[in-house]
Amino acid sequence: MKKRIGIAVLGLGWMGQAHSRAALRISSLFPDAEFKPELVVCADVEQSRRDRAVNDFGFARAVAGFEEAVSAKDVDAVWVTAPNMLHVPMIAAAAAAGKAIFSEKPIGARQHKQLRPTTSPKKHSTPTGVGYNYLWSPLVIHARELIASGAIGRSLIIAADSCRCMAATNLGC
Ligand SMILES: NC(=O)c1ccc[n+]([C@@H]2O[C@H](COP(=O)([O-])OP(=O)(O)OC[C@H]3O[C@@H](n4cnc5c(N)ncnc54)[C@H](O)[C@@H]3O)[C@@H](O)[C@H]2O)c1
Repeated sequence: MKKRIGIAVLGLGWMGQAHSRAALRISSLFPDAEFKPELVVCADVEQSRRDRAVNDFGFARAVAGFEEAVSAKDVDAVWVTAPNMLHVPMIAAAAAAGKAIFSEKPIGARQHKQLRPTTSPKKHSTPTGVGYNYLWSPLVIHARELIASGAIGRSLIIAADSCRCMAATNLGC
């Protein structure tokens, strides 16, 4: 029996949709995964986005206020995909509710708005991740290994190019 992970997505814009699509594909791409993500609730201030969440992405429900979403009992993990200035209050609320958190980057709009120790996930011991997605790209990991192992000697300048459909939409990549 796979472990169910109830997900709340805060903000169903470009990134919220990309992450939701990714969650929907996990079971078919990774049949051996020991967990199964479930799109439980989407929070977005736009009614049209809430409608899309339920009708097109299969979220069980959609709400306007993120506080309601992060405190829901059937939510285990919160994905923060709203604009930057909302990251800190959203993360703080999710941490206080004891949820695992994945936030888009950069966290917070300004340096002085960054997380404080009193509201940080560290204080609440919740698992966290930040969307520096290129660090997990197989291409970047391979390049890092080549450099670290010395296989290509000492690198002074690196020029890289890659073509892929990261977060593709119907408008293109
Ligand atoms: N990791 C990456 O490669 C990558 C790429 C693009 C964007 N980002 C980051 O992702 C985040 C979102 O960017 P985007 O391009 O998807 O933005 P977007 O404008 O497309 O979507 C933001 C969504 O948040 C909603 N929203 C606004 N206020 C809200 C509130 N109070 N509560 C709930 N929802 C609210 C909006 O209605 C909208 O649907 C930003 O932090 C951005 O920097 C990361």
